[in-house]
Amino acid sequence: MVQGTANLNTEVTEKWLQEYVDSWVQFFKKQTVDGEVATYIPILAEANADALGISIIGRNGTIIKSGITEEKFTIQSISKVLTFIVACMERGLAYVLSRVDVEPTGEAFNSIMHLEMKRPNKPFNPLVNSGAITVSSMLEGRTSDQKLEALIVLLEKMIGYRPEVNVRAYESERDTSMKNRAIGYYLLEGDYLESDLGITLETYFKQSAIEITVDDLARIGLVLSNDGFDPNTNEEIIPRAISRLAKALMLTCGMYDASGKFAAYVGVPAKSGVSGGILAVVPPRVRDEEFPFLEGCGIGVYGPALDNQGNSIGGIKLLRHIANQWDLSLF
Ligand code: DON
Repeated sequence: MVQGTANLNTEVTEKWLQEYVDSWVQFFKKQTVDGEVATYIPILAEANADALGISIIGRNGTIIKSGITEEKFTIQSISKVLTFIVACMERGLAYVLSRVDVEPTGEAFNSIMHLEMKRPNKPFNPLVNSGAITVSSMLEGRTSDQKLEALIVLLEKMIGYRPEVNVRAYESERDTSMKNRAIGYYLLEGDYLESDLGITLETYFKQSAIEITVDDLARIGLVLSNDGFDPNTNEEIIPRAISRLAKALMLTCGMYDASGKFAAYVGVPAKSGVSGGILAVVPPRVRDEEFPFLEGCGIGVYGPALDNQGNSIGGIKLLRHIANQWDLSLF
């Protein structure tokens, strides 16, 4: 497979990259049969199990997208990276880290076990449900809509429009999510919640139900790749230190109990969601050979059929393949 892009003009290179990505998406789409769509949030069961799509946006403006790219889906756990960022911007990094740790759990994303087994029961990291619910309680505002406003504004700066909460998805999770309620009660007992439990959970369920596309995820990834700065205007959207920490957390905790394998075989910070989205951040890299996107890029993936850990099965395989072909790994 030809990888080099040296000595080619941009137009030819883009055409070439596009053809490769088209063929890889077609190939990995077939592997979605090995996964299953999430059903514990009833509305997610309606997703098209064999859908697979990707958007890659480079620092130089190159956009390669393929497969199902127009469909909106709920952001789910990918929102955890963003609420963590907003909480750090509002409350200060040190304060947020005094309430939630930065250690991977090695457990499922909705595990309650470590809250019970570790004393004091400080949530392990902001990217598992216990940590994310804690973070949602820290957002400024009295109502859930007030708490989410800064998140929506941050998203608007990165994706170029004001995203909306899918009300059916919000209600579907709100009415069924007993595990998250149980986690909420543990946090309440441990004195980790900074707002009323009902408001906190409402905020958490609404943030999970924000609708986005793969392009939006790629744009968010590009800002993180660029250390929090807008790639076009160079405006600081996220302070550099917060952006760095968010990426470190994505690398160590972003794919739940598959984070180690993802770091080993793909090698970039990423965050998945149970609706099948993956946000991946490719920082700029220095290589002797010419590879695509050396100046960094953001990648958004959508593939609702999930593996046993709750990550998009086709999406992970596709990302792993692209990372190998284009030498995307940080390591
Ligand atoms: O709390 C939940 O279960 C969902 N709102 C989000 C979970 C999620 O996306 C984890 N994904 N792998």
